[in-house]
Amino acid sequence: MPPTAAEFREAVSRFATGITVVTCVVDGLDHAMTANAFASVSLDPVLVLVSVERESRFHDAVSVTSGWGVSILSTDSEPVARWLATKGRPLEGQLDKVAYHRSPNLGVALIDDALATLECRTVATHPAGDHDIVIGEVIAIETRADGRVGEASVEPLLYYRRHYRSIASGESSD
Ligand SMILES: Cc1cc2nc3c(=O)[nH]c(=O)nc-3n(C[C@H](O)[C@H](O)[C@H](O)COP(=O)(O)O)c2cc1C
Repeated sequence: MPPTAAEFREAVSRFATGITVVTCVVDGLDHAMTANAFASVSLDPVLVLVSVERESRFHDAVSVTSGWGVSILSTDSEPVARWLATKGRPLEGQLDKVAYHRSPNLGVALIDDALATLECRTVATHPAGDHDIVIGEVIAIETRADGRVGEASVEPLLYYRRHYRSIASGESSD
């Protein structure tokens, strides 16, 4: 018997991940989406991927832009992660209550509290079931200063078994 979708979801929920927000701009409108299907791919050239659901608005947006941003979130940004994963939220003004800055090359939004941010130029898009795997070459990086690592505010935001978590608490914040 092939696995059911529920069995698959239960199994892959055991794979602990970080949380990112991916962003792009189309016709002056910011698009942003919480994503944990993010991975580093290659060192030479420096490539990353994000798997984007084809039915999402972010998919339509990233398909028509040449580049996108990735913000690797700290626990400080859990409310941002929750908000940018909310289906049907208004696109216009969705970043009004989010602290962000514009990236130097692409002008995409990058989350201020992120542990690290990347600017990426799309080099390939591969259809994969109901998602597209978007591969980007990293053109710029910001990494939060080492001096702050170890403070509670620079804990990575984690996702495990459908709950947001932190290394320190090890527990769901739900
Ligand atoms: C923890 C978490 C991780 C997610 N990761 C992804 C992902 O990697 N790819 C994706 O397409 N959607 C992912 N989603 C769902 C999107 O965040 C959600 O569908 C969002 O509303 C899409 O925004 P949009 O409709 O403006 O594109 C994730 C949701 C959560 C809660």
